[in-house]
Amino acid sequence: MGAQSMESGGALRGRDQELAALERVLATARAGNSAVVVLRGEAGIGKTALLDHAARLATGFRTLGIAGVEWEMELPFASLHQLCAPLLGDLQELPDPQRDALSVAFGLQAGEAPNRFLVGLAVLGLLAGAAEDGPLACLVDDAQWLDKESLQVLGFVARRLVAESVALIFALRDSDDGPDLAGLPELTVRGLSENEARVLLASAVRVPLDPLVRDRIVAETHGNPMALLHLPLALAPAELAGGFWLPGRRPLARHLENAFHQQFRLLPEDSRRLLLTAAAEPTGDADLLWRAAVLQGIPAGAAGPAEAAGLVEFGTRVRFRHPLVRSAVYRGASVPGRRAAHRALADATDPRLDPDRRAWHRAHATDRPDEGIAVDLEGSAGRAQGRGGMAAAASFLQRATELTPDARRRAGRALDAAQAHIDAGGWWCGVFGGVGVGVCGWCGGRG
Ligand SMILES: Nc1ncnc2c1ncn2[C@@H]1O[C@H](COP(=O)(O)OP(=O)(O)O)[C@@H](O)[C@H]1O
Ligand SMILES: [Mg+2]
Repeated sequence: MGAQSMESGGALRGRDQELAALERVLATARAGNSAVVVLRGEAGIGKTALLDHAARLATGFRTLGIAGVEWEMELPFASLHQLCAPLLGDLQELPDPQRDALSVAFGLQAGEAPNRFLVGLAVLGLLAGAAEDGPLACLVDDAQWLDKESLQVLGFVARRLVAESVALIFALRDSDDGPDLAGLPELTVRGLSENEARVLLASAVRVPLDPLVRDRIVAETHGNPMALLHLPLALAPAELAGGFWLPGRRPLARHLENAFHQQFRLLPEDSRRLLLTAAAEPTGDADLLWRAAVLQGIPAGAAGPAEAAGLVEFGTRVRFRHPLVRSAVYRGASVPGRRAAHRALADATDPRLDPDRRAWHRAHATDRPDEGIAVDLEGSAGRAQGRGGMAAAASFLQRATELTPDARRRAGRALDAAQAHIDAGGWWCGVFGGVGVGVCGWCGGRG
């Protein structure tokens, strides 16, 4: 778990209540029932750290984990597939219609676009089966960035877990108020208390701090651990001593991005290009990254300075210290720089093995209409649709529309995109409308 945290070994300060709540969720699953909780809070508040701790508390559990990634291509059910991958050996145990629906959704077999109710039941069945021999913990980080289909199904599953020995814990950035996880039990993760915040700040800042400055930092960060640990590092000691340091009223996440961007800017040019290419490739696939680096003439030594700055780790997977580092690098880059990174990633992606990812990178590598790319995106939309991924199809078609040079063809694709949007929205309501089966997973029972 903790696909994006690099500091999971550290002790958590001031989280007794939250850890007790997670312990209760796990205890419920240990006792043979199921429990769900959504950890909700702003960037850097400590959600991933809590999930990592939950994983450690879950002794005797089988643990599955996934994390959503910002700007990931919308491949339908991709995150769900990743979560369920270790359980697919049990696929044959499911009733045939459920097994077929899930297999088509995951692209394991061809067939009619699956009924999502069956996909949801299949996942429920897989989780319940996996928990027969002992409790199961599913940890879903950054749920706001999962592909839409996966999030909908997980919301559906979360509402129907009862007595399967499953603990399902989501972490969700609080800016997301989508319907998929609405109404589930929540735990709001807040800033640390003043005392805890002071101690954490003192651990991050080596120079003695004027008490007024210290209290000001604690107040302005609202006890956000990430801000306490990283913002002071971005400031010179003289600036820190001077007192005033958080200008304006921008959200804390923007200040943090800014601080990471300052660190990024100090890196050598090759390291910056390597980091930008990594930021443009959401899967963290190191082989792909290095192929794209070679195409841009970036030497292997470029990794060193970026790792030494603590911004990223290059292993078999590329891991940013925090999603805000990734967004700082990507958002802070020039538009031509981003396009060059996507172009190299497209060229490094095998068109036969991964045509969708290639089309997606190509679409981000260009600023002008291009019928070839639009056709490829239409192909991706068709494949998504075949797996029942209407939301994914809609986003591919939308980009295809933007890139279509011919006005009439553009209008046609715009209509297709609009229809896919409607189909995506009507997903559960269409299945359950008027039938009264459970809460609508799309509108959370509100529409
Ligand atoms: N309670 C805590 N005590 C000490 N450090 C913490 C605490 N919570 C989070 N951190 C640290 O703060 C940073 C941001 O935490 P993280 O869990 O990644 O935030 P989020 O997932 O909410 O964006 C990480 O470096 C993490 O180790
Ligand atoms: Mg996180």
